[in-house]
Order: sequence, then C-alpha cells, then structure tokens
Amino acid sequence: MTEALTRTDHRRTRELIERRRAEASALLSTDAARAALALHGTPLLLLDPEKVRRQYRRLTDALPFVRFHYAVKALAHDAVIAALDDAGCGFDVATGDELGVLVRRGVDPARVIHTHPVKKPAEIAAALDAGVRTFVIDNEVELEKFAGAPSDVRLLVRLAYRSPHAKSDLSSKFGVGAFEAAALVATALGRGIRVAGFSFHVGSQLDDPARFATAVAETLSLMDELEYRFATRFEVLDIGGGFPAAYETPTASIDDIAALLRPLLAPRVGSLDIIAEPGRVLVADAMTLVTSVVGIAERGDGRWYYLDDGVYGSYSNVVAEDVHPLVLAEKELRSGPSDAATHRWATLGGPTCDSSDVVAREVLLPDLAVGDLVVSPTMGAYTAVTATRFNGRALTPIAVMARGLTTGEVTAVGASDPRAVSIV
Ligand SMILES: Cc1ncc(COP(=O)(O)O)c(C=O)c1O
Repeated sequence: MTEALTRTDHRRTRELIERRRAEASALLSTDAARAALALHGTPLLLLDPEKVRRQYRRLTDALPFVRFHYAVKALAHDAVIAALDDAGCGFDVATGDELGVLVRRGVDPARVIHTHPVKKPAEIAAALDAGVRTFVIDNEVELEKFAGAPSDVRLLVRLAYRSPHAKSDLSSKFGVGAFEAAALVATALGRGIRVAGFSFHVGSQLDDPARFATAVAETLSLMDELEYRFATRFEVLDIGGGFPAAYETPTASIDDIAALLRPLLAPRVGSLDIIAEPGRVLVADAMTLVTSVVGIAERGDGRWYYLDDGVYGSYSNVVAEDVHPLVLAEKELRSGPSDAATHRWATLGGPTCDSSDVVAREVLLPDLAVGDLVVSPTMGAYTAVTATRFNGRALTPIAVMARGLTTGEVTAVGASDPRAVSIV
C-alpha cells in the first residue's frame, strides 16, 4: 500500500513538473514574454493576471457561498488588484499602506477587511475613516482600542489552530484558544463592544486539508456554545487563507479542500456571513521568474551556477518560507530533460556576496553557459513583496503579460509598485 502510494506520488510529481515545464515553455515563447525580456533583460518576473482571474473563478465555483477577500500582502501589485477588483473579489489588508493602494484604485472600503490582530490606534482610526468596518482582534488591549467605534463595526476574534507543518504556522504568533476567546467575548459584552464573529488562519501553504475542516468544525461549535452561554448572536465566520500552491510537489487542490469544507459550511449559509482571506492560491501560479546564469565555478561540492536573482531578491520565499521553487533550464523547456547522463547535480547561488544566498542545491541540470536562462514557475506569492535591495541590487521588475494588446506594445502601469514596469 505504502509502496503503491509512493509510486502514485512519484507519478503525480513527475506530471506536475512536466506541466510546469510546458506552461513555462508556452509562456516564454509568447511574443509578449520575448518583448519583455528584450526590453528588460533578466532577472524579470512575468505576471499573467488571467491566471489570477482563473484561480478566483476556481475558488468561487468550489465555494460559491464564501465571499473571498484577497490577502494583498501576497502580491500587492496593481494588475492583480485590478483583475480581482473587476471580478468582484474583496480584499484583506494588514496595514494602512495596503489599504491606501486599494483606496487609490477606488475599491469600495466596504469590500475591505483589516485582519492584522495588532494595529496602531492611528491606523484603526484611518481605516475607520476610510470606511473599513471589519477588523480582527485577539487580545484585550486590542479590544479596548475599539471602545466607542461606530456601531456597524464588526470585530472578529482570531482563534489559533496549530499547524506545525504548514510553511508558516501563523498560530504561533496570533490567535487565542477557546477559553481566552470566551473571556474576550465576555469582556466585549461587558464593555458594550460588539463581537460579530470569529476568524482563524490554518497556516499558510497548509499541508493537511483535514486540519482546515477541523478548524471550521471547532469554530462553529465554539460559536454555538458561546451564543448559548452569552445569549448573543454571531454573524461572521472568517475561514482565513492557507490554500496551498503546488511548487515542486503536488498539493491538495481547491476542489479537494472545498469538498471537505462544503458539508460543514453549507448548513450555516443563511445564518452566517462566511468569508475567507486567500493570498497564495490566487497569485502563486500567476508569476514566473526568469533569471540568467552570470557565473560558473567548480567547487569542492561540484558545479555552481550563479544567477542574477537570489534569496535576498525574488527567491526570498526560499529562506522566509522554506519553499522550493522549481528551477528549470530554459534550453530544455520545450524538449524536456534530454539524456540524464549529460546532466550534473549543481548548486544555484544568488547574486549577493552572502554565503547564505543559495537558491537550491542538488539540482539536476544540463550544462549551462553564462547567459543561459533559468526559469522558476509559481513565483507569484511572497516573493517580490519580501525581496530586499541587499548588496545594492535593484528589485526585480515585474512585466505584466496582458492579452488583447498589440503584441509588443509597452504601456506604463499604475504607480503602486515601482517595479510594475510595463504591460507587454
Ligand atoms: C491574516 C492573514 N490572512 C490571510 C493570509 C493569506 O494566507 P495565504 O497566503 O496562506 O492564503 C495571511 C498570510 O500570512 C494572513 O496572515
């Protein structure tokens, strides 16, 4: 059984890599990508907003009664925000700066939720002024900041569900257990502050969909219990983010997860406003990084290729999240890996002088020369937004692949991200 499972896992992994290779090949052979590379060189991030729209449709098809709010932190780019805004998606912000990006675009603040559990009072005041009404708290000090807030403010108490194997177990920093949640509701009622419901985040890049279902079931049962105990009614359930992206191995799909959540959530549809804050799953597939080899060396541990982007840049997810993006040689994207005997295990170093700037080790690659392109798909989430300018390196530009424009046409886009250099 285990062996059979392992064989299936290997097959699915191979299929995923082949699909990623085919997608990258198709992308790089478009006139738009070629024009963008000719214009900007490497490193370059190619952003396809159509893929964001597609993922949003998948979410809404799978969970039609959930109102989704894109977690802007995953990729705060105008083209992503525009695509989701036009599609009717709401937004989730963690800061006043993120809210500012949305306000400047004209997004109705009623469609924005502010889910950072700890905020400066001035930031709360500005968000309230802008018209945001849904906020998250997880402690009494934060609760107190909402004393005297407008009566239509909806406060959600953030619950913690441990997810030790998620890429980012957010419950290690935020959220409370059932006992403290009950105490917060009691304090809020005593202070005349309205708690409208509960939120949680099962951990980013969740590895186990069953945890998602358990978190939903436990939250619903806590809500039932507290409604009875305090003779109150809650109206919002926020199921957070966490939907994973398939980097180098397959992960649970939106449909897999939705199949577990639907039976739990559907009976509550009339009585609860069910919302979610997905980030990664909406944007991860939408951006592809193209780098090139700038140096080659033989070291004690074999061949090293030095790339022009690294972990202090777009590959920041490697260090911050322990993500392992695929790194594919452009020269064999179309043909697939040629004879493995001609390949060698190599280390891929980033461009800075720091020895921790290593993108990947033990990657099987064909012989590469200086100038050869190396491509990483699935680079849309928590990459450009967490990149730094260490060693004085410029942030990697983002070129937006827009369909329907004249091929090669280059147009300036909005100014919220200085790297949003062109629509090609
Ligand atoms: C409060 C909150 N909501 C939503 C998200 C988005 O999560 P994900 O990208 O895993 O969907 C995060 C990620 O850190 C978060 O902290």
